[in-house]
Amino acid sequence: MDKKKATVLCIDDEEMIRVTIGDFLEDSGYCVLQAENGKTGLKLFREAKPDIILVDLMMPEVDGFEVLTQVKTESPQTPVIVISGTGVIQDVIEAIRRGAWDYLTKPVMNLAVLEHTVNKTLEKAVLIRENEDYKKYLEEKVRDRTLELEKINTQLRSTLQETVNALSAMTDKRDPYTSGHQKRVSSLAAAIAEEMGLCGDTVESIRISGLLHDIGKIYVPAEFLAKPTRLEREEMDVIRKHSFVGYDILININFPWPVAEIVYQHHERIDGSGYPRGLKGGEILLESKIIAIADVVEAMSSHRPYRASLDIEEALREIRKNKGRTYCPECAEAFFEFFRKQSGTIKNLFR
Ligand SMILES: [Fe+2]
Ligand SMILES: [Fe+2]
Repeated sequence: MDKKKATVLCIDDEEMIRVTIGDFLEDSGYCVLQAENGKTGLKLFREAKPDIILVDLMMPEVDGFEVLTQVKTESPQTPVIVISGTGVIQDVIEAIRRGAWDYLTKPVMNLAVLEHTVNKTLEKAVLIRENEDYKKYLEEKVRDRTLELEKINTQLRSTLQETVNALSAMTDKRDPYTSGHQKRVSSLAAAIAEEMGLCGDTVESIRISGLLHDIGKIYVPAEFLAKPTRLEREEMDVIRKHSFVGYDILININFPWPVAEIVYQHHERIDGSGYPRGLKGGEILLESKIIAIADVVEAMSSHRPYRASLDIEEALREIRKNKGRTYCPECAEAFFEFFRKQSGTIKNLFR
């Protein structure tokens, strides 16, 4: 700090000390304000906002301790040096506790020592202020950058959602008889996951995977999908390839979740009777086990080219009968619980 611009407020009830210190520091280039007691000192402190305060401890009415407390409360960055002749160690400790930056004893025999202390204290105050300013600057930078990243993240999520919707709609175009199937499976599977208390990120992965789980059907000839009669074994074999084809399409998309693998496993059954790999129990992802239930419920309660839509009761019977055999029991329980909460009707099952 340029000492010519630095203002020192000297508060002391002994005029001789005040004037001696004032004259010396003014000769050294400081601007010095003087106050003969604590009350006037605090008034000057509030009006002139000095860069540093020198204060005596023992003064009538408002003493140095009170001045320290007030300055610390109103302007903690203003340094205060206590100059006192009490010579009692408890006073020093109390002054430091109340926020004094330094302590000198009276009489000040060497005024050059006082000037040195004032200089060093002011330098320290400037460093602290610069440090705080820099900290504030960094905090603002971090806040701005975080907001920017949040914005980019929101844009990316929205792009991902639009892309998934477009891919999902592509399957619907190919197979209009089951149009909306993936959307309904996605919503029911996400509801089951929520019912199981899974975290938001897992629910989201199930919702996205549900929207894409039958994307591999673009490989299946349209006439197989629209066939009004039961499929032949060879035709069924082709249809069953849709799990792997879906995996193959999705594996190179860098989703934040294992969407390709979830899709690959959505026709697996916990007893190993599913396809295409005959995986069992713990080998199957929880996400796929949940989608498997939603898939069966949606398929059984919707119209198909080869049959009219079945009653929801039929789907419930299927899940109840095979709970723990082909379907994960916890996932099935969560489905029944969710179904109960929808007042046992199919109306709100696929939100
Ligand atoms: Fe499927
Ligand atoms: Fe499906």
